[in-house]
Amino acid sequence: MQDTQIRGNNGPRYRHKHSDSAPYENIRVEKLTPIIGAEIFDIDLTRPLSQAQQLEVHRALAENQVIFFRNQNITKEQHLAFGSLFGDFHIHPAAPHVEGLPALMKIHADENSIRANGEAWHTDVSCDQEPPMGSILHIHTCPPHGGDTLFASMYAAYEALSDRMKNYLNGMTAYHDGEPVYRGTYKNLGVIDKPEYPHAEHPVVRTHPVTGRQALYVNRGFTSHLIGVPKDESTAVLKYLFEHMENPLFQCRFRWQQHSIAFWDNRCVQHRAMWDYWPNTRSGHRVTVSGDKPFYRPI
Ligand SMILES: [Fe+2]
Repeated sequence: MQDTQIRGNNGPRYRHKHSDSAPYENIRVEKLTPIIGAEIFDIDLTRPLSQAQQLEVHRALAENQVIFFRNQNITKEQHLAFGSLFGDFHIHPAAPHVEGLPALMKIHADENSIRANGEAWHTDVSCDQEPPMGSILHIHTCPPHGGDTLFASMYAAYEALSDRMKNYLNGMTAYHDGEPVYRGTYKNLGVIDKPEYPHAEHPVVRTHPVTGRQALYVNRGFTSHLIGVPKDESTAVLKYLFEHMENPLFQCRFRWQQHSIAFWDNRCVQHRAMWDYWPNTRSGHRVTVSGDKPFYRPI
């Protein structure tokens, strides 16, 4: 049956089967698509969350992979406090941070920028041995139009593969390299390069430690090659996977407003930021939550 499902005239390529585990009682959750993304209402992040709200925010993240909040005019300290509810802070190996607050990464592009953050599909810092679990981005200055962020579900990307391709990839590992990504990248902002940047070998199919679901875990930003297969095979398979995972079927697209917040799960989501607003300014801060070492567990 599997091969007939992907020919194009036998129903959808991807049949989404996951639904929320229970109604929410302390927040309101409105999905952007059935597959990925939800907006969270009836919550004020300038005030401490109740234990019940915190648990439901965590559940909403697990069930939707990326969650969004509107009109949250939070201070830097409130941003850090919210992030700390979900784990320790991850400190970026290269990017500039707010002075005196290394856990608060600056996200900024204006008419003089030579680059903007996240212009290619990636998961944050997947070159780390223990890549960040999640990233929480607060945008305080928006361009009049544009600057959207796209998010893609790597659960859906994995599940839409043929059974033969899943079998091929399950248990395989890939090399993620920070060196070509970070060396010299922030030179114009006065950042002096470190002697070396992180690199790591991770499973190509990653089992999510909270949901137990399988996700594709290679990305254009950091994954240089597959381990244990010839280079030409690695290049060809990665090219296929990178194109496959960019299918809009697996995506949602978030339009920022002043004081919007996005919280995405790097273990099962890739994202890409649009720099379509030049010469306007887009500016904010990111708090990044530490994660664990990726693993693959057969189901
Ligand atoms: Fe990113």
